[in-house]
Formats: sequence, structure tokens, C-alpha cells
Amino acid sequence: MADLEGTKEEHEFHTNVPFKNEAFALRGSNSLDWGIKNRLSNIFRPDTGRTVMLAIDHGYFMGPTTGLERVDLSIVPLLPYADTLMCTRGILRSTIPPTFTKGIVLRASGGPSILKELSNERIAADIEDAIRLNVAAVAVQVFVGGEFETQSIENMTRLVDMGNRYGIPVLGVTAVGKNMSRDAKYMRLASRICAELGASYVKTYFVDEDFDTVTSACPVPIVIAGGKKRPELDALRLAYQAVQQGAAGVDMGRNIFQAENPKAMIQAVAKVVHENMKPEKAFDYYQTLRTEK
Ligand code: R5P
Repeated sequence: MADLEGTKEEHEFHTNVPFKNEAFALRGSNSLDWGIKNRLSNIFRPDTGRTVMLAIDHGYFMGPTTGLERVDLSIVPLLPYADTLMCTRGILRSTIPPTFTKGIVLRASGGPSILKELSNERIAADIEDAIRLNVAAVAVQVFVGGEFETQSIENMTRLVDMGNRYGIPVLGVTAVGKNMSRDAKYMRLASRICAELGASYVKTYFVDEDFDTVTSACPVPIVIAGGKKRPELDALRLAYQAVQQGAAGVDMGRNIFQAENPKAMIQAVAKVVHENMKPEKAFDYYQTLRTEK
């Protein structure tokens, strides 16, 4: 019990100072509950409103992807430079040190491998397990236009219901099927559907033309996937164009962990995302870091 003797009695109630009631700056997120906002703040850096998510969940349908054969050796050393890690619960429990205290985005859908119809996914993790793992968000693939479109959208809406119950944001991941055109019209459609149906934020792909219309028409933050490995300077250009056109960051995998020097690459990407560094300058920074011992 608190000691009642000798307590300080001079109160300062600041009666003439209006109560600070700050809006939550993240796009479309001001009306969310405290727990969801708190978790989103462990994904999007509050000082920039952006994130560098390191995506390493590829194994859930691709198996041991190049660069992810030994996550303990290739990815764990990159963790200090990521704002958020996107992974499966198998990799999280087996390989990621629990001393990693930044946001975890848990892959929560799955089912088919690359040998089957990819859109035939189901929910692949309980919300209780997500809570147990103390994750910042759960991620679910949405196949707009795909063979199992409705099923994948239902996966997302069910996760949104479960996530809202416990204050866990849902990342809607737009999966572009082989037959879909990768253009702004498709990305607008897919990302808007995710947002309308309750995703707290959306991952989509950058497109060369009119990407700003994709971010503009989506009422919640958009992050972009990196896609297939490209030369480092091109990947930095991609990240730069995306954030300049309204993306709130990247959810980048192969262009980081398959880079010639992944540790240098993730730091260069962070410069582009958080400091608006021009891609050519960020590439110089990459070159400097990669030649350092
Ligand atoms: C699909 O495998 C996952 O959702 C990845 O997290 C996503 O595609 C981002 O990774 P990458 O930058 O390699 O495309």
C-alpha cells in the first residue's frame, strides 16, 4: 500500500490548458480502436507514417525460396533494420528470436502449393494463436478475379471480424493471378475491395502508369510488394516511385533477401522510404555499405 505520510500535496491541474486530443495520423485509421492503432504504430513508424516490412513468408506456398533456405542465417541478421517482419507462424516459432520487439505480421492464409490452384486458400491461423504470438497484424491473400475469389474474400472478412474482436489489424494482400492484367485499373479494384471489406491496410503491386490513382482511391494505407528480383537500383526506383505516389511503404522480400548484399539493401530501402532519398543516392549508399567490412 502506498505510504500516506509525507505525500506531496501541491497539485498542478493545469485547468487553463486544453486537453490534448491528437488525431491518429495514419490514413483512414482515426476511428479505429486503441489496440488496433497501437499495433499499427508497431508497423508504421509514427515519425514518418511509413514502414519497411521485410516479407519472408514465401515458403508457405513456394517452399525454401532462394535466400530463405536458412532464415536463421540470412534473415535474422537483417531484423535490426526492418520495421516489421512478415512471416508464417512456423518460421516465427522455430527461428525468429522472441527478443525481436517490432511488429510481426503473421501470414494467416494458405493451403495450396505452387503445384495447385493458388487461389484456393483457407484461413490458416486462429486469432487466438495470433494473440498468443503477440502479432501486430494478420495477413490474408485476396484473389480478386481468381477462381476462388469469393472464398478468399470470405477468408479476409472472417479475419477482419476476428481481428476487430481482439484489436488486431488485417493486411489484405492482393494476389494478381496469371490471367489478370497488372495495371492501375486492376490494382484500384482489388485494393479498394480489400479496404471496403475491412482491411486495415492493403498490400498491392506498383504499376508504372497511374499508381497515384490506386493510392488515392484506397481509403487505408497501401504498401507495395517488391515482386521478382530486379537489379538493386531498379528496386530502389520502384520503392521511391511508390512512396512518392502515396504508398505508405514497402512489404519487400526477394529484392532484399536476394540482393547481392541484403543488409546493405534493406538499409538503402529504408532511406528511400523514410527519408525520401532519391534512388540514385540510395544506390550510392548501398554501394558504400556493401563495400564496408
Ligand atoms: C507472397 O509470397 C508474399 O505475400 C510475399 O510476402 C510478397 O509477395 C512480397 O514479397 P516480394 O517482395 O518478394 O514480392
